[in-house]
Order: sequence, then structure tokens, then C-alpha cells
Amino acid sequence: MNYRHSYHAGSFSDVFKHIILALVIDALKIKEAPFTYLDTHAGRGLYWLDESEAQKMQEYRFGIERLISYHKTTPAPACFTQYLDLVSSMNFGEHLNCYPGSPKIAETLLREQDAMILCELHPEEYSFLKDNMGKSDKKIALHCTDAYLGMKAFLPPKTARGLVHIDPPFEKTNEFEMIDAALKLAYKHWRMGQFMIWYPIKDKREVERFQLSLKQYQNDVLFVEFFMEDTNISSNLMGCGVALVNPPWKLNDKLTKIVLPYLASALHARWTVSE
Ligand SMILES: C[S@@+](CC[C@H](N)C(=O)[O-])C[C@H]1O[C@@H](n2cnc3c(N)ncnc32)[C@H](O)[C@@H]1O
Repeated sequence: MNYRHSYHAGSFSDVFKHIILALVIDALKIKEAPFTYLDTHAGRGLYWLDESEAQKMQEYRFGIERLISYHKTTPAPACFTQYLDLVSSMNFGEHLNCYPGSPKIAETLLREQDAMILCELHPEEYSFLKDNMGKSDKKIALHCTDAYLGMKAFLPPKTARGLVHIDPPFEKTNEFEMIDAALKLAYKHWRMGQFMIWYPIKDKREVERFQLSLKQYQNDVLFVEFFMEDTNISSNLMGCGVALVNPPWKLNDKLTKIVLPYLASALHARWTVSE
């Protein structure tokens, strides 16, 4: 386990993923009934952009920094507000130093009745996660455990409604197969569950195989993909996607008409959405 998200915090891929995550959580709040958010690969919860790890590649400059700067001249649509407000509340003035991870974003959006379960396997990352999330007044359970064991142990959630965010580092060559197996198992006991799976787009055939496999047993899946067009970008990764299983009603419309066109203009990128 060599991967450290602190090298990539605030990148185009984080911004893309976190905006969609905020929209999916927001949609769950339309109903009063509680839900559970399970983050299988939680990371640290928040990241310091001034530190050497983030400074090495400065990926945040092509992600969150670009979005904030574009927003100053071309104000973002209303559905970006919660995310942008959160980032701005963690920073003072113009200087961008702190970026929220998925647990922090979810924590901000969760209500009193909702619950959150965070799994992180790396002991050092887990220790940061405990420091960053441990003092929350929301219902949060933290586990230093493997993502896929966590899915077996915690699904279906007590609340029945819920979202599972699967965001692996893809260090293992069989990560797509591991996700697929874990999803199939979860699906047996929890058909109504919502899942958001992030994936890198490096080998198109591998992605297509994963998509085909998902579509064989899931009726309702949306694949949203985002590709940077800027050749100056410091990241090795130029494209990524999220698979949304049982996506919220009308999310497709919101993404294609409002969110993705704005985000692509802000970050110099293109996007696709398919079912
Ligand atoms: C891409 S980062 C997560 C970023 C986070 N979801 C966010 O959006 O802020 C992946 C994390 O998964 C952790 N990890 C790697 N293998 C894992 C496993 N098998 N189970 C749980 N966590 C794992 C890594 O230590 C790393 O912190």
C-alpha cells in the first residue's frame, strides 16, 4: 500500500468526484427517513495543500484552484454552492491551503438522523482520519479495516437507505474484479442500495469489461466520465469516471445540462454520460 491521497488532493479527479458525491447525498436528503453513508476507502478526511506531498505535483492547481478562479469570473450554478462554500470555509481569504476529503464532505451534508461508516486500511492514514473526523457531533463509526470486508460487515445498513462510496487507489491489478465481486455480494442482500464507484480511465478495454459486468445484474447504472484536455496538467491520469448504481432520480439531467458543462469549461475538460 504505497498510495497516499495527499499527493493528489484537490486534483481534477477529486473535484469531479466530490461534486457528484455532494449531489448524490443531497438527493438522499429529499426524504426524511435516515440513510447511512459508507466510505470504503476514506483516506484522511482532509488535506493540507501547502505540505510537501501536495506541493510535489501541485495537482490541485488543475482542479480546485482552477474551479475557484473560474467561479470568480463566471459564477457556478447553484448546485455547486454547498461544495464551494465548504472549501471556502476551510480556508482563510484568498489562500487555498486546505481541501476536504470525501468523509468531510459527507459529514457536512449529513443530518442528525443519518449515519456514516468510514473504512481506511492504512494505519497512518487511519490515524489522520481519526484526528480529522473523530470529534464530529454526527453519528460516525471509524474502522481501520479492509474496504471489501467492511462492505460484507456493514451492508445492508440498519437504516435500509444508504450510499456506498467506493474509491480505491487501483494499486492492485485486479481492483475492478474485486469491486465487481463485492458489489455482486452486496446486491444479493440489498437491492435498493446506492453505490458510487470511482475508477481511473487508463485501459479502455478494462473499463468496458467492468461496465459490461455491472450492467449484467444492475438495471439502473449511470457511467459519468471526465477527461482533461489540457496537456500541461501535472497528473499522469488524464481521465476518470464514476459508476452510479441506482442513481438519484433526475441526476442524469442535472449532470448533463448543468454540472458537467460548467465543470468542463472551468477545468478545460470534456465529459460523457452513458447508461
Ligand atoms: C483514493 S484514496 C481515498 C480518497 C477519499 N475517498 C476522498 O475522496 O477523499 C484511497 C484510500 O484507500 C486506502 N486503501 C487502500 N487499500 C484499501 C483497502 N483495501 N481497504 C480500505 N482502504 C484502502 C488508501 O490508504 C487511501 O487512503
